[in-house]
Amino acid sequence: MWPTALSQGLRWFPEQASTVAGQVDALFLFLVAVSVFFAGLIFLLVFVFALRYRRRAEDERPKAIHGSLILEGLWTVIPLGIALAIFVWGAYLYFVISRPPAAAMEVYVVGKQWMWKLQHPTGQREINELHVPVNRPVKLTMTSEDVIHSFYVPAFRIKADVVPGRYTSTWFEATKTGEYHLFCAEYCGTSHAVMGGRIVVMEPAEYERWLTGGVSVESLPAAGEAVFARLACNTCHKTDGTGRGPSLVGQFGQTAKLASGETVAVDESYVRESILTPQAKIVSGYPPIMPTFKGLVTEDQLLQLVAYIKSLKLDGQAKP
Ligand code: CUA
Repeated sequence: MWPTALSQGLRWFPEQASTVAGQVDALFLFLVAVSVFFAGLIFLLVFVFALRYRRRAEDERPKAIHGSLILEGLWTVIPLGIALAIFVWGAYLYFVISRPPAAAMEVYVVGKQWMWKLQHPTGQREINELHVPVNRPVKLTMTSEDVIHSFYVPAFRIKADVVPGRYTSTWFEATKTGEYHLFCAEYCGTSHAVMGGRIVVMEPAEYERWLTGGVSVESLPAAGEAVFARLACNTCHKTDGTGRGPSLVGQFGQTAKLASGETVAVDESYVRESILTPQAKIVSGYPPIMPTFKGLVTEDQLLQLVAYIKSLKLDGQAKP
């Protein structure tokens, strides 16, 4: 192990292999620098004051001190300024990391004890391995079949909890080809420590070859369409809008008006909730008659349904 570590030199940080890695490290180094500076200052002052204000005679009595407004002001305003700078910087970076670019390619992730199941929109499935092209943003829509896991790729400086019963998402854009460690960063049981894998970042052409190589597979929306038909969703959700439920064509990415008067963004989480808990948010103008499909669809199938509904575009609407 360690001869390779030596040949790479002493490494303080994992490799920087995503667009946000440098920014995360800059913020981290700033925090370290602030901490080191003030720890050093305090140590120094402890010694300086101990020498300078030491008692020099047996009967020496110090002068009474009545405080100093200037000093109090300074040690309030300076730390406040530093804390606010850290907050603004951290919040900005948080927003960058939590908002996938609109053009991102999508990958669906299901965590389970103890493996990562990943699926490309084109249908390719992978376990504990994810192949992606370099220099292209990748959005991860993630959920868990059992307990909380956490998707962690140190080289990309991303880590996001993967929670049963809901979708979470994160994104990255790899800047270098190569292989990077994937870890589970939330204790999830006996084999948590080995719940990992690798992200393989490839040149775009090589990635295309990888996609088309191997067995031909059904795309995610096509798989979703089959589930949609098998569960007879299409008997109510007719595409022409004459069904007992709303047509789903062109709905994804829009907002829906609810019977309660509220509006809701039609996103992955809303589609998921509508399949599992249909009564939660009823679209205005429709009766609350849809049964729940809880227990009838797996997490994989839910993601396929989401991909299918996402693919239902009106003519002239941009394809995903
Ligand atoms: Cu999954 Cu720890």
